[in-house]
Amino acid sequence: MRDPTLHEGLQALRDDRAFDPAAVSAVGRLASEFGTPLYVYDKAAITGRFRTFRDAFAARFPKLRVHYALKANTNGALVALLRAEGAAAEVVSLGEILAALRAGFRGNEILFTSSSKGPDEISKAVEIGAVVNVDSRDELEQVAALAEAAGRRARISFRINPGVDPHTLHHINTGIAESKFGLHLDGGLARAAYARAQELPSVDIVGVHCHLGSQITETDGYVVTARKMLAFVRELEEALGVRLLFVDLGGGLGVPYHDGEAGLAPEALAAALEPLWKELTKRLGYELELWMEPGRFFVAPSGFLLARVNSVKETPLKVFVNVNAGSNTLLRPAMYGAHHRARVVGRTGAPETLDIAGDVCETGDILAAERRLPRPEAGDFVVFLDAGAYGFSMASTYNARPLPAEVLVDGDTAALIRRRGTVEDLFRDEVLPPSR
Ligand code: LLP
Repeated sequence: MRDPTLHEGLQALRDDRAFDPAAVSAVGRLASEFGTPLYVYDKAAITGRFRTFRDAFAARFPKLRVHYALKANTNGALVALLRAEGAAAEVVSLGEILAALRAGFRGNEILFTSSSKGPDEISKAVEIGAVVNVDSRDELEQVAALAEAAGRRARISFRINPGVDPHTLHHINTGIAESKFGLHLDGGLARAAYARAQELPSVDIVGVHCHLGSQITETDGYVVTARKMLAFVRELEEALGVRLLFVDLGGGLGVPYHDGEAGLAPEALAAALEPLWKELTKRLGYELELWMEPGRFFVAPSGFLLARVNSVKETPLKVFVNVNAGSNTLLRPAMYGAHHRARVVGRTGAPETLDIAGDVCETGDILAAERRLPRPEAGDFVVFLDAGAYGFSMASTYNARPLPAEVLVDGDTAALIRRRGTVEDLFRDEVLPPSR
C-alpha cells in the first residue's frame, strides 16, 4: 500500500482523525521540514471552494464577477491561485492593491473598498483603472479632484450601508445602521451622492456596492439587503437616469468552525437571490453584472495552524497545554472569542478537559478553551483548523515573536510560500539613538 499524501493527512485532521497515521505523518513531515508555528494551506481545498461558489452563481447569474477579498489572506501564492481560477480582486489598502498587481491582476480587475482612504491610495487606484468604491461625500470630492489633477477619469461605485443586521458577531457586523461603513439609503444620502457624482466630469459611475458583515450563516439578511439594493438601482435609473454596470452584494459567507456545522452553502444563497435578480432584470430591460466578494469562504477551511507543545501544566482548576503559537499567530479567539477546532496529533488517550494556551503574556491568550481532547506531552503537535482566513493576515510580532512561515500543500508536495520571520526582521527597521 502506498504512503498517504500530505493532502490526505490534512483531510484526516479535518475529519477528526488526528490519531490516524496519515495525519501523524503529514504533521511530522511538515513540522520537521518547515518548523512551527506553521501555517499550512491545502491547494485543493481553495480551488474546490472557489469552483463550488462560482458554479452555483454562474448557473443563475449570466454576468458574474467573483472577487477574492484579499484581506482574508494576502499571501501572493494564494492570491495568484485564485486569480488563475478566474477571481477578480477586492482590496482595502495600497498594500493590498500592490499585492493584487503583484499576483498578476490588471487594474480593471480590482475593486478598492475602504472607509478611510488616503490620497496616495486613491491616486494609485485611479492610475491603474481600479474601481474606487467610495464611502462618503467627502471622499467623492477627493477622488474627483485627484483624478482631475492626474488628467484621468475615476471609475467609481458607492458603498451603501443597507441598515440590515445579518445576525453575526457584533464586531464583524458591518451593514448595520450604526456601523462606520457606507452611505445610508435612509434620508436620501446615497441618492444625493450619486446625483453629486453625476455633476463631476472626472468621475464615471459604474456600480453600487454593499457588504453586510462576515461569518453570516443565513440567507435572510442577504435577501433583505438585495431587495433594498435592487430597489435602489431602479430608483437611480428612474430618478437620475444613472445606468450601472454592476451591483456588488459583498462577501461574508460563513464557514463551519465546529464539527457537524454546515456554514452557508453558495447554492442556497444563489438560489435565494435569483428571483430578485430576475425581477430586476425584467424591470430594467437589461442585465447587470452581479459582483460578489467573499474572502473567508475560499480560504478559511484550507488553512491549518501547526503548533508544538512546549509544556503541560496542571493547576488546581485547569490543565493548560502551552503551545508555541498564540494570539500573535492566530488572533481570532482572543479578539472575537472565535472558536477554532483544535486537534492533538497522534494521541488516543481518553479525552480530558484542556485549555490550549498561547505563548504570549496575556491572560486572554487562550487559543482553545475547555476542550475535550487527549492529553499531549511536550514535543507533540496541536493543529488548529480553519485558520486560512484572518489567521496570518492578522498575525503580529507582539512579544517580539517573529511571524510564522506559510506553506502550500499540493497533493504530496509542500511549497514554502513565506519564509519564517526572524528576530533580525523585528529589529531591522528600528533606529537606535547613537550610543554614548
Ligand atoms: N468585502 C468587504 C467590504 C469586507 O469588509 C470584507 C470583510 C469582505 C468583503 C470579506 O468578508 P468575508 O467573506 O471574508 O467574510 N477579521 C474578521 C473578519 C473581518 C472581515 C472584514 N471585512 C474575522 O476574523 O472573522
